[in-house]
Amino acid sequence: MGAVSEPLIQWFELNRRLLPFRQEPSAYHIWVSEIMLQQTRVSAALPYYERFVAELPDPAALAACDPDKLRKLWQGLGYYSRVANMQKAAQIVCRQYGGQLPADYAALRALPGIGDYTAGAIASIAFGIPAPAVDGNVLRVFARLDNSSADITKPAAKREFTARVLEEMPKERPGPYNEALMELGALVCLPNGAPKCEVCPLAAQCKGRAAGRAEQLPVKTAKPEKTLVPVTAALITGPQGVLLQRRPSKGLLAGLWQPFAFEGTAMTQPELDAALRTIGLCVQWQAPLQSTRHVFTHRIWQISGFCGTAAGPAPEGCVWASRAELNGEYAVPSAFAGIMRQWRPE
Ligand code: ADE
Repeated sequence: MGAVSEPLIQWFELNRRLLPFRQEPSAYHIWVSEIMLQQTRVSAALPYYERFVAELPDPAALAACDPDKLRKLWQGLGYYSRVANMQKAAQIVCRQYGGQLPADYAALRALPGIGDYTAGAIASIAFGIPAPAVDGNVLRVFARLDNSSADITKPAAKREFTARVLEEMPKERPGPYNEALMELGALVCLPNGAPKCEVCPLAAQCKGRAAGRAEQLPVKTAKPEKTLVPVTAALITGPQGVLLQRRPSKGLLAGLWQPFAFEGTAMTQPELDAALRTIGLCVQWQAPLQSTRHVFTHRIWQISGFCGTAAGPAPEGCVWASRAELNGEYAVPSAFAGIMRQWRPE
C-alpha cells in the first residue's frame, strides 16, 4: 500500500465509528446511508436509517412503498427529492436488475439520484470496485494534504482532487480507503479551521500543516446570500383536528402536508381571512402565533402564523387530521414544525 493509504487505513481500522450500515454493508444499506448522509450529520441520520431499513429492508420494499409513507419515514431529514429519487431508482433496480443494485459503477451512476459520489461509495464499499468517492470531507483532506489553494467549489478542483484520490487508492482495498478518507474528514481533519492535527495519521506528510495553512484550507468561494421569503400560515383547528393542505406534486417539498399557507407574501389577518373565505373557510380568529423562520439551501422562510377555528368540510386539496393522524401519517416538513407545535390540546 501507499504512503497515504497505509497509515490512513490502519488509523481507520482502529478508530472508525461502529455505525449500523458498517455492520451489514450490503449495497442497499450503503446506498440508503450514503443518501441520508449527503445533507445530514451522522448523529441526526442514525435513527432515520434504523427505521428506514427496518420498514423497507430491500429495494423491492422501497419500490412498492406508498409515497406518502415514504415521505413520512423521511420527515425531518429535508431534501425530500432524495427519497423520491431513491424510490424511482429502486423501481428500475427491480425491473432491470432483479432487485439487486448492480455491481457496476456506470450502471449505478445512471440511476436517479445517484451522482459521482454515491456511485463511487456504493461501488467501492459494497462491491470493492476501485472507484473514487469524493465528498466535501475528502476534498478538505486532500486540499490540506497537498497544500492546494484550488477552490473546491469549482469543477476543475473536484477533477484535480478526484485524480489525487485515485492516485493514492490501493486498488485492492478501495472501500476501506474511501471510507477512511471520509471518516478522517469527519473526525480529525475537521472543517472551519479546527483540524486535530495532533491525532492525524497523515500529519507528518501533510503539506498544508507544514506550511502552517491547514486551518485556512480548503479555499472555497462563499455561497450567494439566501433570499428571505415571507410566508403566511394559518393553523386552523376544528372538531376533526387540524386543517392540512397538500403541497403541489412538483417543486420544493413536493407532496408534503402543511398548515394552510401562502408563500411569498406577508399577509395581515384580514387579508388572510378574505383569501380563506374565497375557498369557503370561515375562520374564528384567535391571537396570532409566534413567528418562526426556516433556513433552506437557497432561501429563508420567515413564517407569520395565525390561528383560529373553523368547521365544515375540508377545502379541495386539504384534510382534517387528528393528532394521531398528524403524528403517524401526514408528513409535515420541519419548516412548519414551529407553527405546528403551537397547536395546543383543546
Ligand atoms: N459521510 C458520508 N458517508 C460516510 C461514511 N460512509 N462514513 C463516514 N462518514 C460519511
